[in-house]
Amino acid sequence: MVRAQSRYVCQACGEAFLRWEGQCRACSAWNSLVETVVRATPRTGRRTATATSIGSAPVALAAIGDEDVPRLPTGIGELDRVLGGGIVPGSLILVGGEPGIGKSTLLLQAAAGVRGPVVYATGEESAAQVRLRAARLGLLEGAAGQSIAVLAEREVGRIIETGRGSPPALLVVDSIQTAIVDELDGAAGSVGQVREATVRLMEFAKGDGVAVVLVGHVTKDGTIAGPKTMEHLVDAVVYLEGERYASLRLVRTTKNRFGATDEVGVFEMAGTGLQEVRDPARAFLADHPEPAPGSVVAPTLEGSRPLLVEVQALVAPAGYGTPARKASGIDPNRLGLLVAVLGRRAGIGLGSHDVYANLAGGLSVAEPGLDLALGLALASSLRDRPVGPGTVAVGEVGLLGELRPTGGLERRLREAARLGFERAIVPDSKARLGPRIEGIEVVAVSSLRAAIEAALGSERTVGPDADSSSPTRRSPTARVLG
Ligand code: TYD
Ligand code: MG
Repeated sequence: MVRAQSRYVCQACGEAFLRWEGQCRACSAWNSLVETVVRATPRTGRRTATATSIGSAPVALAAIGDEDVPRLPTGIGELDRVLGGGIVPGSLILVGGEPGIGKSTLLLQAAAGVRGPVVYATGEESAAQVRLRAARLGLLEGAAGQSIAVLAEREVGRIIETGRGSPPALLVVDSIQTAIVDELDGAAGSVGQVREATVRLMEFAKGDGVAVVLVGHVTKDGTIAGPKTMEHLVDAVVYLEGERYASLRLVRTTKNRFGATDEVGVFEMAGTGLQEVRDPARAFLADHPEPAPGSVVAPTLEGSRPLLVEVQALVAPAGYGTPARKASGIDPNRLGLLVAVLGRRAGIGLGSHDVYANLAGGLSVAEPGLDLALGLALASSLRDRPVGPGTVAVGEVGLLGELRPTGGLERRLREAARLGFERAIVPDSKARLGPRIEGIEVVAVSSLRAAIEAALGSERTVGPDADSSSPTRRSPTARVLG
């Protein structure tokens, strides 16, 4: 007879305690302990050697054979590249994203591309709904109609049993928030349930050598709902990003035990599922008939992949009250900082203006190299004067209005040149730039003020809180290197 046991599980960090306490001793969260009843059950797992299983006997480092990690390609090039060449058999992958972003669509397409049988366990939708999506994706007639088995089941034990019955090449669990472990009380999606479900699926993946992909919903603040505890259990974390009402989607790994992180794949959500974008470098550039004030292109670097993004800013006189500062796809703190630096160090006073900034295409970029393009876009909008059409700008802006170099400059500029840009405004970094890049003129400047002059030409500045502390304005020096 198994005895029912009670544990108090912290809903914030997942730590379990024997007694209830008002504050979690592990993470100091208040009122976060919830009683969870656990009936001890023997855990059994067949052990077979796989790329990811951990053997019990120690082996000398040099004696370990350098076997190639086998890969299970999904047939979707952008996804395989992000994963480092495909899914590793016996690995556990978490695919996160906001609801409605396209996780189920991506995984159904990936399941169809995998060679071998796939079990698609769905707790979110009925089997009929999955069939409907498959029909929309045109997968019913092909081989996928036979190779994918849909299992409408939420209980992890039964999902694993099905997997053990005839082991598939890939098991998809959509989603981990709807999965439940029968032995555990507590609602689906609670920390205890999610953690236990993940642990059991991990044991199944490693023990039976079956690749398991978990779908996880991400809350608005960007964390996978509920548990931080999940990310360290899995072998890879893949995020699907984008704006729900725009069509471009980015696939990004933030953790990968079998490949590089920070690689991105670019997709477009079409009527028939996610389509790979052939030339992603230009995917995030908006089309303008002619140069528009407030728009500046920045060559960003996502992993090893340069992406050209268009920063758009709109500056408008504010009414009463605190002026608005709105950012989308850009860190609002960076926007606030740039508004302050522009006012104090570059003579672009925005204190009585509403300021809006975003990235075209629904992309979001966190790298500081975006600063310069954002600063120039704001200045360009205030002066209502466009930056030259073939110009890109990249660099970090410091509090003194100075520009700091960003990594991978040469790679960024090469990509800009390839896409037809002719001029790049970059931080002057004392001969750190390598050989000159064919087709692009490099303008190296040392301050934000100089960058504005290089991009927009000199002009007496406007705005009530413009920098008036320097009566004799030095002409900033710009070095033309290219
Ligand atoms: P879905 O994969 O269900 O999102 P998630 O699993 O992340 O919640 O995708 C939802 C959206 O994608 C839905 O609003 C409809 C859209 N969509 C398309 O535009 N084209 C398609 O071919 C499919 C299948 C979905
Ligand atoms: Mg879904």
